[in-house]
Amino acid sequence: MMLKKTGTAALFAMAITLLGGPVAHAAGFVYANALAPLYAGPSGGGSVGSVTPGTPLAVVAPGSGVREQVLVEGWSRKGSDAVVLQAPGLNIVLAKLTPAARAHRKLLGQRRDRAGATWEHVEVPVWVARRDVAASVNTVWAAAYKLYSARCKACHALRAPGTRTANEWPRILNVMEKNAGFNVQQAALVTKYMQEHAKK
Ligand code: HEC
Repeated sequence: MMLKKTGTAALFAMAITLLGGPVAHAAGFVYANALAPLYAGPSGGGSVGSVTPGTPLAVVAPGSGVREQVLVEGWSRKGSDAVVLQAPGLNIVLAKLTPAARAHRKLLGQRRDRAGATWEHVEVPVWVARRDVAASVNTVWAAAYKLYSARCKACHALRAPGTRTANEWPRILNVMEKNAGFNVQQAALVTKYMQEHAKK
C-alpha cells in the first residue's frame, strides 16, 4: 500500500503546483482578444478601464449575458495604481483602471524592489464583453503573429521578439508601429505579443 500512498501524495503535490501562479478559480481563465473596455457591471455604464490583448482573466461566474465577470490580477507600483503590470518592474501593461474600478481593488500582498519602490499585488473584479475574450491565448498570439509577420518585414528582415527584452520593446515599437501604419488595436496586439515572447 506504500506505493499507492506515494502516488496519491505525488498527485496531490502536482495539483498544488498547478494551482500556483495566477490565483486559480474554478471557472478557469479567458483571454482578452483585443484592447478591450472593462465595465463595473453586467450591463450599461461607461468603461472603467481597459485590458490589453492576451491578458488572462479569471472567470468569476460564467453567466450567459453579453458580459462576464472576471478578475484582473497583477502588480501596481505604489502611487501608480491606475496601471496594472504583469510583475514588479516588468513593464508589460495588463490593464488600466479608472478610480471607479480601483475602488474594488483587493490587495493580495506587497513587495519592495531593490530600488526601494513598493509594489502592490492586486486583484480587481470587473466585467468584460464576451466578444472581447478568447478561450485560448493561442488564438490571440496567432492573430498577432499574422499581423507582425506580414507588416514588420516591409523595410528590413523580420526582427524576432526574442531579440529584445519586454522592457526594451515599447520604445522601439512606438516608432516601428507608426512605420507599419498600425492603428491603436493593431499596435496594442503586436506590442503585447512582442513583450510576451521577448528575451528573458
Ligand atoms: C517603413 C519601414 C519600416 C517598417 C514597416 C518597420 N520598420 Fe523597423 N526599422 C526601420 C528602419 C529604417 C530601422 C533602422 C533605423 C531605426 O532604428 O530607426 C528600423 C529598425 C528596427 C529595429 C532596430 C531598432 C533599435 O533601436 O534597436 C527593430 C527591432 C525593428 N525595426 C522592428 C520592427 C518591427 C517589429 C516592425 C513592425 C511593427 C517594424 N520594424 C516595421 C523601418 C521600418
